[in-house]
Amino acid sequence: MTALAAMAPAGFPMSRIPVANVAAVPQRSPLRYPGGKTWLIPHIREWLRHTRPDLLIEPFAGGAIVSLTAVMENMAGTAVIIEMDRDVAAFWRAVLESGTALCEWIGRFDPTPESLRKIERSLPESVVEHGFRTLVLNRTRRGGVLAHGASFSKTGENGKGLRSRWYPETLVNRLAKIQAYSDRLCFFEGDGMKMLPILLRGWGRDAAVFVDPPYTAAGGKKAGSRLYAHSAIDHAALFEILAEAGSNFLMTYDAAPEIVDLVRKHGFAAVALSMKNGHHNRIAELVITPEAMFE
Ligand SMILES: C[S@@+](CC[C@H](N)C(=O)[O-])C[C@H]1O[C@@H](n2cnc3c(N)ncnc32)[C@H](O)[C@@H]1O
Repeated sequence: MTALAAMAPAGFPMSRIPVANVAAVPQRSPLRYPGGKTWLIPHIREWLRHTRPDLLIEPFAGGAIVSLTAVMENMAGTAVIIEMDRDVAAFWRAVLESGTALCEWIGRFDPTPESLRKIERSLPESVVEHGFRTLVLNRTRRGGVLAHGASFSKTGENGKGLRSRWYPETLVNRLAKIQAYSDRLCFFEGDGMKMLPILLRGWGRDAAVFVDPPYTAAGGKKAGSRLYAHSAIDHAALFEILAEAGSNFLMTYDAAPEIVDLVRKHGFAAVALSMKNGHHNRIAELVITPEAMFE
């Protein structure tokens, strides 16, 4: 048994699709997201090629990488993005409602320790200002962590300090591309756990759901509560919602015993992937679908 196969938790096979080389996948989200799912994009492409949903629902959006990719690569008609965090929600609203103004704010900004402290302490007066604040803090804080108390990146990547993650031109280009698809991207601020069953009642099998929930349970990454302001959801209830709706879905989770039990209980299929976490340790991640597709 190889070291990788030995990691496959409790009888789940390893996925036949490799983890993407992140550099080879188009970076579409302006947000850096702890636990971002760029590496999962080859799985997402294969899943959506089979599913071709009219509607893709992403109830725990964060950087919304999957919705952006699905719409821009014409693999879904419309994507509904849901996020509960007020700061992240303001960012998506600013992008989709006031994109031009947001780009102007980006073009004018010079990240210095003083300007960052000022933004951090500011009480935004408009959605654009609030969304801009989120973007600045997300790009310049260590690891993209937005949760309260996170520190700024001191040396940054390549020793470029605060500017190492602040690329105004790249950010404006990404925003312009998103705005070009804004008629097919629909954002809601709220609780994905409450909105998902309502949306699925209307859309049923015409919808597909991408689920990347915050996960903090024992055996999981544990860092979730530090990374996200909202990190407590009822995982058993989430599995129930998906099982009852009978819709197509793709979920990713740490391979924690609680999650393995839920996959078994509902008769879902899962494959394992071996990921390196921020500390270069290998951890097993599960990709869960209603029926087997990555074995
Ligand atoms: C694991 S992250 C998603 C990362 C995303 N897939 C990406 O690649 O960028 C989970 C996100 O769900 C949000 N969240 C947590 N609880 C939520 C809830 N009940 N409803 C909606 N969003 C929630 C968190 O604020 C966080 O942004």
